[in-house]
Amino acid sequence: MKYDVKDMKLAEKGKLRIEWAGAQMPVLNLIKNRFLKEKPLKGLKIAACLHVTTETANLMKTLKAGGAEVVICASNPLSTQDDVASSLVKHDGISTFAIKGEDHKTYYGHIMSALAVKPVITMDDGADLVSTIHTKKKELIDDIIGGTEETTTGVIRLKSMAEKGVLAYPIVAVNDAQTKHFFDNRYGTGQSTIDGIIRATNLLLAGSTMVVVGYGWCGRGVAMRAKGMGANVIVTEIDPLKAIEAAMDGFQVMTMSEALKHGQIFVTLTGDIHVIRKEHFLKMKDGAVVCNSGHFNVEIDIPSLQKMSRKRRMIREFTEEYTLPSGKRVYLLGEGRLINLAAAEGHPASVMDMSFANQALSAEYLVSNAAKLEKQVYSVPKH
Ligand code: ADE
Repeated sequence: MKYDVKDMKLAEKGKLRIEWAGAQMPVLNLIKNRFLKEKPLKGLKIAACLHVTTETANLMKTLKAGGAEVVICASNPLSTQDDVASSLVKHDGISTFAIKGEDHKTYYGHIMSALAVKPVITMDDGADLVSTIHTKKKELIDDIIGGTEETTTGVIRLKSMAEKGVLAYPIVAVNDAQTKHFFDNRYGTGQSTIDGIIRATNLLLAGSTMVVVGYGWCGRGVAMRAKGMGANVIVTEIDPLKAIEAAMDGFQVMTMSEALKHGQIFVTLTGDIHVIRKEHFLKMKDGAVVCNSGHFNVEIDIPSLQKMSRKRRMIREFTEEYTLPSGKRVYLLGEGRLINLAAAEGHPASVMDMSFANQALSAEYLVSNAAKLEKQVYSVPKH
C-alpha cells in the first residue's frame, strides 16, 4: 500500500481521537452498519480529497465498510491532522497522502498519487480532484461513475463547468443538502472559526469588535457565535438581501471602508477573491487581526500585504506579524488559510455526522443511479 504521511508513530493517538469523534456520529454509524451488511460499494475505487480529520476518518471507514477501496489526499495544505493520517494507514489500511504544512508541489503531488489508483468515484472538498482530472488526467474520465462535492466553493466551480458544457461526469452537490449547509456551514463554521481564532491568538472576544466579511451560511454562523462571546459584530455584505438580514439579526452593517475604522478582528467568509486588500490594510487600526474561513486562501490579498510590509515575523504559532511602512502592525492568522482547520480541528463531529452521512449516501446513490445520470450537478435527493 502506498502512502505519504508525517510520522507513523502518531498512529495510536490518531486511533483514539478517531474513536472519540466516531462516538458523536450516530447517523454515519447507522449507515456504516448497513454498509457492512449490504456492501453497496463493493470493489469500487473511491478517491477522496478532503480535510484529513478525525471526522473524515470515520467517513473513510464507512466507505470501506461498504466494500470500497479508498484512497485519500488532503484538500488543503494546512488542514491535515497528522495523527489521523497515520492511523488511517496503520489501522485501517487506507492509502493516505497528506502532511500538515505540505508545500504547493507536495499538495498537487498527493492529488496525483490519489488519482493513480484510477478511481471510479471522486469525493471532493473544493473540486481539486475534478479540476485535476479535467486538465491533467482526462484518460480517467471514461471509467468514472460520478463524484461528490462537499463545499460551497467547489459547488460554484462545478456548476460553472456544467454551465459551460465542460463537466465530463455527474456530480452530487452535498453542500446543497439542507442537512448539510443549514448545520455544517452555520453551526460548524460558527464554532470552529471562533475556536481557530482563539487557539491562534488567545484574544478576549468580549468587548472586541469583530468584522465578519460575508453573510452567507458560514458568515451567519460566525457572526452569531462571536456575538454570543460578547464581541461587537460588524457585517460587510455586497448582497442587499443578506445585508438586510444581517441588520435584522441585530448586527451593524457597513461597507468595508467604514468597518476598517472600527475592526480589531476581521474574518473573511465570502468565497471571493481579495475582499481584504492593499487599500484596506493601510487603513486598519494598529494591531488588527486578519483571518479567513473560506475555502481558498485568496480572500485576503496576502501577496500585497507581503510586498508592502517592511518587517515580518511569526509571533506565535499561526500568528504572523506584518509591519506596514507607517509602523502599524497587522496580524495574519494561519497564512490566510481556513483558520478553523489550520489552527483548530474543524467542525465538531456531531455536525460533520450530518455532512458525511450525505457523502456516504451520495456515493451509494451514484452507484445505483449511474445509468440515469447526466454530466450535471445534482442535489442530494431529499429522501
Ligand atoms: N470541514 C470543516 N470541518 C471539518 C472536519 N472536522 N472534517 C472534515 N472536513 C471539515
